[in-house]
Amino acid sequence: MQENIIPHSFNVSKENRTKIKNHNSFLMWFTGLSGSGKSTIANAVEQTLFNKGVHTYTLDGDNVRKGINKDLTFSPEDRKENIRRIGEVANLFVDSGLVVLAAFVSPYKKDREIIKNTVKDVNFVEIFIDTSVEECERRDVKGLYAKARKGLIKDFTGINAPYEAPENPDVRIDTTQTSVEEAVEIILKKIKPKLYL
Ligand code: ADX
Repeated sequence: MQENIIPHSFNVSKENRTKIKNHNSFLMWFTGLSGSGKSTIANAVEQTLFNKGVHTYTLDGDNVRKGINKDLTFSPEDRKENIRRIGEVANLFVDSGLVVLAAFVSPYKKDREIIKNTVKDVNFVEIFIDTSVEECERRDVKGLYAKARKGLIKDFTGINAPYEAPENPDVRIDTTQTSVEEAVEIILKKIKPKLYL
């Protein structure tokens, strides 16, 4: 099947598209435990970029899993497929000229590597929202940790499913030491050379 798929060469390129926007496109990948603050920080980064006239789009665990990935569970295989599909969608958005923010637990190193290969190293910024399981459980914004402790959710990351922390992320934010505003500043400083070349 694959050998009969021959890409058509379209006239308008990624370079053409980014030129009319006056900024580059790439993917910011936020990883961390459920309730670590990924979506909160991604949201604040997006707002700041939007205010500067940067065209963005955010993909996040709760919205994607209600739509394109609603057939997937939290088993290791389904999490892998979840991340693979998101990587492919993010890649199309990057090609379309957008700055993409993706906030997913993405607990497996190997799966995050796959995304990096899909969008290419140069287009990938890994942001580790480093909040301990103790702290996430203390906050328990969605009440999911309490449910998981009661045995009502199986394979819950940090409780009865693993989280493989990134060893060399591009940015690491310790949310017990860093405010949302400070995190935005740190992240913007990191992406500035990628945003405007
Ligand atoms: S991932 O592991 O496949 O990357 P994803 O980021 O899409 O996970 O979804 C995580 C969100 O789903 C969490 O923020 C939480 O709200 C919810 N959730 C429900 N069940 C689980 C579970 N077993 N493990 C982790 N998160 C879960």
